[in-house]
Order: sequence, then C-alpha cells, then structure tokens
Amino acid sequence: LVCFLDDQTKEHINCTLPPMDGYPECEGKLKWMKEMWETDPCYKSFGVDGSLCSFLIYLSEIEPWCPVLPGRVGSSELEKNLEMGSEQAVVRESLEGLYSSVGNRPQYSWIHQRIHSMKEIWVEAGRSLSAKYNLTQRKAKQIIVHPGAITYESGVKIAESAFHGGPLGELVQWSDLISTLHILGHHLHLSGSTFLGIKKGACPRYSRVNVDLIYTDIVGFKQIQKSAPVIWSRYKCIIRVLDSFGTEPDFNHIAWAEKHNLKSPFGGLHLVPLQFYTMFPHTPDNTFLGFVVQHQLSTEEIEKLKSTKRQNQALVYGKRAEFWQGKEAYLDVIHKYLEIHGTVDKNTSIPSYVKNHGIIKGTAVQILLRQSKVFVGLSFPYEGPAPLEALANGCAFLNPRMHPPQSRLNSDFFKGKPNIREVTSQHPYAEAIGKPYVWDVDMHNLTDVERALTGILSQSIEPYVPYEFTCEGMLQRVNILVEKQDFCSHRESWPPVSALQVVKAEANTSCKEACQKAGLICEPAFFPNLNSPTSFAKYGVDCQTSQFSDSNLVLPAYNEDSKHCLFQSDSLLFSCVRSDQSLIRICPCRDYIKDQIALCKECV
Ligand SMILES: *[C@@H]1O[C@H](CO)[C@@H](O)[C@H](O)[C@H]1NC(C)=O
Ligand SMILES: *[C@@H]1O[C@H](CO)[C@@H](O)[C@H](O)[C@H]1NC(C)=O
Ligand SMILES: *[C@@H]1O[C@H](CO)[C@@H](O)[C@H](O)[C@H]1NC(C)=O
Ligand SMILES: *[C@@H]1O[C@H](CO)[C@@H](O)[C@H](O)[C@H]1NC(C)=O
Repeated sequence: LVCFLDDQTKEHINCTLPPMDGYPECEGKLKWMKEMWETDPCYKSFGVDGSLCSFLIYLSEIEPWCPVLPGRVGSSELEKNLEMGSEQAVVRESLEGLYSSVGNRPQYSWIHQRIHSMKEIWVEAGRSLSAKYNLTQRKAKQIIVHPGAITYESGVKIAESAFHGGPLGELVQWSDLISTLHILGHHLHLSGSTFLGIKKGACPRYSRVNVDLIYTDIVGFKQIQKSAPVIWSRYKCIIRVLDSFGTEPDFNHIAWAEKHNLKSPFGGLHLVPLQFYTMFPHTPDNTFLGFVVQHQLSTEEIEKLKSTKRQNQALVYGKRAEFWQGKEAYLDVIHKYLEIHGTVDKNTSIPSYVKNHGIIKGTAVQILLRQSKVFVGLSFPYEGPAPLEALANGCAFLNPRMHPPQSRLNSDFFKGKPNIREVTSQHPYAEAIGKPYVWDVDMHNLTDVERALTGILSQSIEPYVPYEFTCEGMLQRVNILVEKQDFCSHRESWPPVSALQVVKAEANTSCKEACQKAGLICEPAFFPNLNSPTSFAKYGVDCQTSQFSDSNLVLPAYNEDSKHCLFQSDSLLFSCVRSDQSLIRICPCRDYIKDQIALCKECV
C-alpha cells in the first residue's frame, strides 16, 4: 500500500540523505536495515528491496525514525486515505478470533481463561445492545493493547501470581476491556512484551499510520516512552492509560508536581487527565472504565447452585493470612451469629473456627458466596472487585469504615499513588450503594458490628449488579468512549455542550462536591467553556478585574469580595477535586444515567 509509487516506476529514485535534524536515530537504523532487511520477509512486504531509497521510505513511513522524503506522501495524507477507505465495525457474534492471540501466550493465560469463561454472556450482551441501539456506521478501529504490567520486562509478575492468590483487579479489567473491544468489532493487536516490536528492531505487522487507539497502563506507558522516544509524542493523544486508583491533575502535571513536591513513581505522565481510565468512578477528572461483575455458569454449575441453599454462613474477604491479623475480636462477634469460611493462603493467624478452603477457583468462590449471607471486609484490600461479586451473588457486604479516612498522607498503601483522594471505607463505591446491600461498620466498635449483623440477618437480600458493571453496560460505555472521546483533533466536543450545567460552588468546596450536591457530576471536558469573563457574565458573575494564571488548581474561580476573577492558563491544570477558602469555583457539571455514571443522558 505504502510503496506503490516505487512499484509502479520500478526505478530507483536517486535518494540522497535528507537533513537528519530531529531524527537522531535515523542513521543507526539505516545501518541496521542494510544488514538485516532480509532477516524478516515482512520488510519485503512493505516494499524494502535493499536500496537506500527503500530503507528510507520504510524508516520514515512505516517506522518513524527518519524524515519523510521530499515528494513522498506524508503520513497525515495517508491517514486520511486510510480513513476514507475504512471498513465498518460489525458487532461480533463470537470471541473465537481472540483466542489465537491470547491463547498461546503465558502472560495472557489468566486473561484467556476469564475471556473464555464468559464468552456466551459477552455475545448475548452484544446482541442485546445492538437491539437497543443502532450500532452500524462505526469505523473498525485498529487498536493496540499493551498491558505493561504483565510483560516479563516489567518484573511486576502479576500474571504469574494470579493463580496463587495475587491481586486480580488489573487482570480482570484487561480481560473485560479486550472482550469488549472485540465484541464491538474492532481489530485488536495484543502486545506481549516489547511495544510494537520497535525496541528489538522487528518489523511491525501494522504501521503507525493506521493505529487509532492504544490501551496501556502506567508501566506500559513508560515502556513506550522509552522504546520509542521519537514517536511516543505522536502516539500520545491516542493513548489510554488503565490506572486502577486514578491520577489527579496536580500529580499528572510534570512541572506542578515537581514544584509542589507531589512526586510519585506513577505520576508526571503529563496526559490529559481524562486519558486515565479507572476501575471505579474515583475522581471525575479521570475516565471511568470499570469491569464486569457477571459470570457465565455451565449447566453443571447451574444445577449445583440450584441445590445450594443460603446457610448461616459468612465468607471473609482476604486471601492473604496477613490481612487477618488483629481482627480476632471483630470475627469473634460475627462468629456468634454465623459460621465463618475463608479462602486464605495459610492457616497461620486465622482463628481456629474458620473453615479455610485455601485459594480456590472463581466458580468455587461463587458457590461459597451463594451459600453465605454476609461477605466480611477486613478493611484491606481497598477497592477491589470482590465486594461487587458478593452483591451479585446475593450476599450483603460488611464494609469497614476508615478512621481517619485513608489517603497517601497517612497510608502506606496509597503513599505512592498519584492522588490525595480520601478513602472513607474499604470500598467507597459499595459504600455509595448502601443498605440493604452494603453495611458500613466500625470494626473496633463491637456493638456497631452486632447492629449491622442483626440488620442483615433480619431481611433477605436479592442479587444486585449495577448496570455499569454488566457486560452490556460496559459495551455501551466503551463503545461511546471509543467513538466520541478524542484528544487529538477536538473536531467535535464531547460530551455535547448542551449537557453542560453550571453550578456555583461555595468557598472551600470542590467542583466534585458541588456538582454532587446538585445531583450531577463534574465534567472536566467542559472547563474550557467556562474559562473566560464573557462566559462568567453569562452565569451572573461580573468580573471587576480578571487575570489568567497557571498557579492555581481551582480555576476558573473568583473572589466574592473583590470580584476579581481568575482563569486557568494551563488546561492540564483544570481539576474537579480541589477547593480554596477564598475563591468561589464556577463548576462544569452534567447529568448522568443512573448506574452508568460515565455517560450523560443525551450521550447515548
Ligand atoms: C442504522 O442507521 C443507518 C444510518 O443512520 C441506517 O442506514 C440503518 O438502516 C439503521 N439500521 C437500523 C437497524 O435501524
Ligand atoms: C487449613 O485448615 C483447613 C481446615 O479449616 C484444612 O482443611 C487445611 O488443610 C489447612 N491448610 C493448611 C495449608 O494447613
Ligand atoms: C458504637 O456503635 C453504636 C451502635 O452503632 C453506637 O451507638 C455507639 O455510639 C458507638 N460507640 C462508639 C464509642 O463509637
Ligand atoms: C475552610 O476550611 C478550613 C479548613 O477546613 C477552615 O479553617 C476555614 O474556616 C474554612 N473557610 C470557610 C470560608 O468555610
């Protein structure tokens, strides 16, 4: 496709080396190509024939190391051509096409297992969504999926420990994202180790001109930055970073973080904060990606569950024996009412009355949940998927409160995280769901624990999954994000400006809080719409004086006494989450669909 000019003329244009300014790696790559171009037939397929000219064309148009030759079509032209002749995305009726890429890579084995185990409910959800919305007229996008933390290079070993009680949150999210994108009809390119093959000089099977989106994580983002230093900035606007706990704007902004001593090993990526995709809807400055809490059962398992009766039984949330330390008094109270079961790696430091099943498979955990009435939080781990699994299986969740709330300021776990969000209980998302599903307790006040237990046991609880955590809900959300969210061209603003609702916050109140109080959610995409004296005037704020500044996180805002207005001069510092004692924030809010908080009502 790219080399048709040469194929037609069959002549070697006399290529002279163009100026190499800004392409420090071009010469080295040319030397490498000269030696190595015959080692992989892929180079030939891109038109490389051993001539200097073909090397230069390849290294400028397929890989990004050299300047584009004069007279050649630049990649932006190619991009346009590709877009015009683009293929339509069709909702898929099977996950088969995925297995060849996830099935034979050990790093993906846990992910493969999860995808496979949910295949029928994914396909069903795709059909159901197609029946509700017209999902035609979409371009089939080329999407690279690069989960850095599961690569061998990362040394994180998530993939290896998944089968032995290691944390699963990230793997769950990757599995569900991959299934979602596949069902939606896009083309996925999964990367197992190095990114795009650029690092080892391998010939890529796809070129930079036709990649639409890249999903990665913070580890993967840094690998991309390192392995492709020249081009990563070109890719920047199509990158989405999976980031479980979220990155707040002040930690994301390189210069701000440095100046204010907010350094974090995970911060300083300097992206648009909405490019961070979180597990739960944490800060509205980031995008809520989520995952799925739904299982597909075999007929055998369905039979088993049918004969499963709920017993006076509690299952404790804690796979590692150390999470149980110091919780005896709390568990003793629960044990007065219920038989206690666990799925713990060791028996040390767990009370002798606990029936420990060891680390068991997901479906076995489900059966335990179906037999239980209560899923017992031990206050750690924070914000995992398990409490939602428990609700989905008809258990109530005992959710320990945090006194004081935990954040990077007082907790080792949150210390390195690039946010200062305060976690008020083990699971703030569940906390917001509330009774009869979720009961917040003070673990150290045994009267309070008894009060919650008697409350739970006095009623029967139905299984509950919020729509945003179902396959269909995730398909709906991700489809709209893939189609509409755009950090490259800003051709069309999203969400639509008509969804903007302006709320004046009180002093000391953040936009996150102010919007919430009004039954809305802060929408950072709308900050630019409020960032000028004329837009302030529209909302009844007369500025006596005004000024643009990049030294405050709460802008746009004004001082009520002096009527001095301050506007944000650095768009990466727009933030929903901070407040100021002497400034009134003017907040961009929007409505949201109940149980689908990422989307406004007119977004679907
Ligand atoms: C979906 O929309 C397209 C164009 O807007 C239209 O041509 C097509 O018939 C619609 N399909 C369905 C099933 O409504
Ligand atoms: C832990 O205790 C259970 C009984 O609750 C027992 O069946 C299991 O073998 C023990 N596991 C270990 C690793 O000692
Ligand atoms: C303990 O919990 C009970 C019941 O919720 C409550 O009435 C009491 O004030 C609490 N005690 C303390 C010391 O917090
Ligand atoms: C803002 O909060 C601070 C600290 O919580 C408090 O000292 C101050 O009085 C508050 N100011 C206003 C105007 O509410």
